[in-house]
Amino acid sequence: MVSLESSKRLTTFLLAITIVVMAFGGLIRINDAGESCPDWPTCFGSFGFDISPEEQEKWWSENPDEVDSRGSAHRYTTFQIFTEWIHRLLSAAVLGPLVLLNWYLLRKNDDSTGEISFASAVSVFLIVWQGGIGWLTVEMDNLHWSVALHLTSALFFSTSLIWLWLSICRAEESVPSWISFDSESSKRWLTWISLLSLGAFLSIFSGTFVSTQEGANQACGVSGFPDSWPLCEGELIKPIDDFLAQAKMIHRWFVGVVLTSFIVASYSALKESKDGRGGSLVSWIWASTALYSANALIGASYILTYDMEEGFFEFLSLVHLMLASLTFLTLATAWLGCTTETDGE
Ligand code: HEM
Repeated sequence: MVSLESSKRLTTFLLAITIVVMAFGGLIRINDAGESCPDWPTCFGSFGFDISPEEQEKWWSENPDEVDSRGSAHRYTTFQIFTEWIHRLLSAAVLGPLVLLNWYLLRKNDDSTGEISFASAVSVFLIVWQGGIGWLTVEMDNLHWSVALHLTSALFFSTSLIWLWLSICRAEESVPSWISFDSESSKRWLTWISLLSLGAFLSIFSGTFVSTQEGANQACGVSGFPDSWPLCEGELIKPIDDFLAQAKMIHRWFVGVVLTSFIVASYSALKESKDGRGGSLVSWIWASTALYSANALIGASYILTYDMEEGFFEFLSLVHLMLASLTFLTLATAWLGCTTETDGE
């Protein structure tokens, strides 16, 4: 029988690989490579990524139904195809089988608890679901809602792994002190943490509509400070007539409201810590506020570093995605800690 400790290590490894897969997902997007493997699970009918322009042309002529929005004359570079290929390889050939193995080992383990079985079953369901949504993303030509759903599921899948890790810690009675909160603080902060998690999640969700729509990142102009940021085409707020076309302004306003909530929460946490209350939960509120604020600045730098010749510095968009995901996962971890019965400090 494999020990719970080994399953815990495997779960940590799975979480680390998931973060890498998410980063490759963002790399696909910033390289416009979302359809560089037009079929799934194969890529241009093969299992490799080195598909020459001639091979692409041949495949399009044999599969006219698969032609995407860029048309059959468009050719992808080997690097673009590689980003999509490695993203799929890691998720389908590494994550999928290992999540199943983890579930199987935990099922066979006599020390497993009901919570562990449930959390590992949820992670299996979500990895299978994620593969299906990945296929949908490809089928829908990376349409905004399909990418938003794909990213949402990726965040839920990561959260299920954190939950599994925490439930194994509980079964081993080895919950680390940095995630053990006293029940008083947990009760007091649970609603705040739930709301901030929701705010962080909706910030990412609304951001996906900006990043996946052609030209949406220019919707507030590119003339620099202050007209394109913090203002939107020189105005603070404009009437909304088209939610999708104005996704940028909506995302910005939403982030402004959520950022204010983070600051208010951090201020209350500061008062609590001065009174000697709150324990380690206070650090989680501050850490997530620091991540969210830093990410708001990254979003602003993305707009302000626009160059007429070079366009946007897309690497910042990848950092923006990763920091946003990290903020959500930090809060989701704190939320799981609050709902976990521990002896705490
Ligand atoms: C655990 C498995 C997976 C995770 C965690 C994951 C996560 C992600 C993330 C975070 C993004 C970036 C979204 C954004 O930038 O807004 C992404 C993009 C993408 N993923 Fe996945 N993914 C997984 C599996 C798959 C699979 C199996 C496929 C294909 C069948 C797939 C296809 C894509 C495509 C095409 C994109 C690019 C979307 C775009 O260009 O906007 N993913 N993925």
